[in-house]
Amino acid sequence: MTALTLSTAAVPGLRADAIVIGVAKSSAAQSAAPVVAPGAEAVDQAYDGRLAGVLETLGASGAEGEVTKLPAPAGFKAPLVVAVGLGAQPEKGSGYDTEALRKAAGVAARTLAGSKKAAFALPLADAADAGAVAEGVLLGAYSFDAYKKKDDGGSAGKGKNGKAPLAEAALIGGKPRDKAYKAALERATAVAEELNRARDLINTPPNDLNPEAFAAVAQAAAKEHGIKVQVLDEKALTKGGYGGILGVGAGSASGPRLVKLSYTSSKAKKHLALVGKGITYDSGGISLKPAGHNETMKCDMSGAAAVFAAVVAAARLGLEVNVTGWLALAENMPSGSATRPGDVLRMFSGKTVEVLNTDAEGRLVLADALWAASQDEPDAIVDVATLTGAMVLALGNRTFGIMANDDAFRSAVHEAAEEAGEPAWQMPLPEHLRKGMDSSTADIANMGERMGGGLVAGLFLREFVGEGITWAHLDIAGPAFNEGSPFGYTPKGGTGSAVRTLVRLAERAAAGDLS
Ligand code: BES
Ligand code: ZN
Ligand code: ZN
Repeated sequence: MTALTLSTAAVPGLRADAIVIGVAKSSAAQSAAPVVAPGAEAVDQAYDGRLAGVLETLGASGAEGEVTKLPAPAGFKAPLVVAVGLGAQPEKGSGYDTEALRKAAGVAARTLAGSKKAAFALPLADAADAGAVAEGVLLGAYSFDAYKKKDDGGSAGKGKNGKAPLAEAALIGGKPRDKAYKAALERATAVAEELNRARDLINTPPNDLNPEAFAAVAQAAAKEHGIKVQVLDEKALTKGGYGGILGVGAGSASGPRLVKLSYTSSKAKKHLALVGKGITYDSGGISLKPAGHNETMKCDMSGAAAVFAAVVAAARLGLEVNVTGWLALAENMPSGSATRPGDVLRMFSGKTVEVLNTDAEGRLVLADALWAASQDEPDAIVDVATLTGAMVLALGNRTFGIMANDDAFRSAVHEAAEEAGEPAWQMPLPEHLRKGMDSSTADIANMGERMGGGLVAGLFLREFVGEGITWAHLDIAGPAFNEGSPFGYTPKGGTGSAVRTLVRLAERAAAGDLS
């Protein structure tokens, strides 16, 4: 990963491949010229105060995602200036939005792939801004090339088709001796490293990441970070009566697993349980998905990857809260041993489920994991899942849906998402949709009305949350995997959606605030 430093150095004398500055859209109605953001003063002075005009001549507007490259002024040690768009100029008296800084830093880091060192002279009003820029750099510099042919190596040994990630970033204006700045950088590093590891897991092809392999990765990381780990294999799941997880995994040559990760703090006052859908590949099972709908289904373990990353990040940050992570891992495949539409499963909770569609498998593995999590009586449970195509239709590719059995907790989760810079929206659990899942054979069916399919799935999950336990459900089917071009700090492929929201929630819980 990119090495980060806080620097008080003067920009002109800096030895680097590039200097990154911010440019914003002017709030003045008549002005088409962009506004140069604080941090770029030295560059502006060297341009005789005409930097905004120069940028305008080059076509810069300050829009988010925009990159304008210009030669560094005479006398500068660095050869290049990269101006990144910050979006709208903030109102007088308030600073730049942390998410705008995070995105701009990510765009710059991605643009500078192949470079050794860049100086980030973006507007840093406080330690939180420095943390956001650091996160943006580390997340934007991410690349996944484990499966690309290596060339003779170059210095970083990267594949022929890709450039090595930016090696070093100095945050200019950061205060290297200030505790808050140092803590912000440490937090950003822990969160981004774990989030990038979640991205790696999501991007790893399903022939290399089956439930057993995922569980092994979790075990190794848990050991490294002092997290207690328990892995239930097929035998243990059978003994325990986990009919949902076993039913989904029944068609695969790679058996299912349930992983429990327990991070505990001696100072904890709250206990947060996190549950992740970990379908390492979703073919749909006997209700096979048609071609065109299964090529990206290695991403169906993104919820488990997010939970795993969040528990490890909480441990690395030493948060004063107990966090238990549950990874419900299975591969959904058709075969002679697969669960059939029409089969009835006896779940871990004792309820029976008629499987009407084997492609609605996520709710089956989650049901068992939610019931298992409930046995510890945590203060709250949050599950994360690439659960329904319906949620993608409703909210698009960048926003996840939040459902809950408690209005205040749903709002708290939404606030955590906003604080983390993740787009999310609150969705209802309309009672009238429950009867669509009535089954003539079993206690409930795994499918209901087609309309509002994301909410139907949420209502199904609600049935498997222990009595009186506060619960929220995040459907990340839209934002978990980016099939389009990279944007901001988001790469193509696995995005690490929900990791930062879960870490924020754990931090809020550590502060005694869960709703
Ligand atoms: N893994 C899919 C949901 C999904 C869709 C994730 C698109 C990411 C992108 C899930 O298991 C599924 O297939 N859900 C079905 C449920 C239906 C059969 C009730 C769906 O949404 O179509
Ligand atoms: Zn499915
Ligand atoms: Zn699925």
